[in-house]
Amino acid sequence: MDTIKCIKERRSIRNYKEEKIPEEDIRKILDCARHAPSANNKQPWEFVVVENDELLEELGSICSYGKFIENCSHCIIVLGKKGEKYFLEDGCAATMNILLSVNALGYGSCWVAGHGKKYEQEVLEALKKKEKKLVSILPIGVPNEKPGKNKKPLEKVTEWVK
Ligand SMILES: Cc1cc2nc3c(=O)[nH]c(=O)nc-3n(C[C@H](O)[C@H](O)[C@H](O)COP(=O)(O)O)c2cc1C
Repeated sequence: MDTIKCIKERRSIRNYKEEKIPEEDIRKILDCARHAPSANNKQPWEFVVVENDELLEELGSICSYGKFIENCSHCIIVLGKKGEKYFLEDGCAATMNILLSVNALGYGSCWVAGHGKKYEQEVLEALKKKEKKLVSILPIGVPNEKPGKNKKPLEKVTEWVK
């Protein structure tokens, strides 16, 4: 898929069909995640893939605005290394690579907030990753909805100093 089209057509998808995504495609998405830029090329991330129904349900009930996690095919959780200055920026860059590659492959996802949320520790405990920082939670599935356009016009968000 053309990169510009992929960026412009990506939307948050919170409704998924029951279909399971082939593991090969999840691996392609993870491979895109690890190609993200990071400060000093530290790559201070770890990606946890959850496809176990019980754990998906648990994550869905923990995350206040992420109940739809329980209906996804796979959920990728982006973790950062504690004590690494730019773990959050780096993790967000990897998160965007995930969202865009998901869209390029014809699947859907939605960034569910992780960092700084009151349930952050609960998510880390459920994953047995208490030594890490939580960046984002990304349920992935075959889209079962098609949201419309929702962006502010370019001139409203741009100041051009010539
Ligand atoms: C940092 C961040 C946290 C978000 N957290 C949630 C969330 O907890 N639950 C949710 O349904 N959507 C969440 N979203 C998705 C936004 O609601 C969505 O990106 C926004 O409405 C714009 O829609 P779009 O992604 O379709 O362009 C989050 C997005 C970002 C960037």
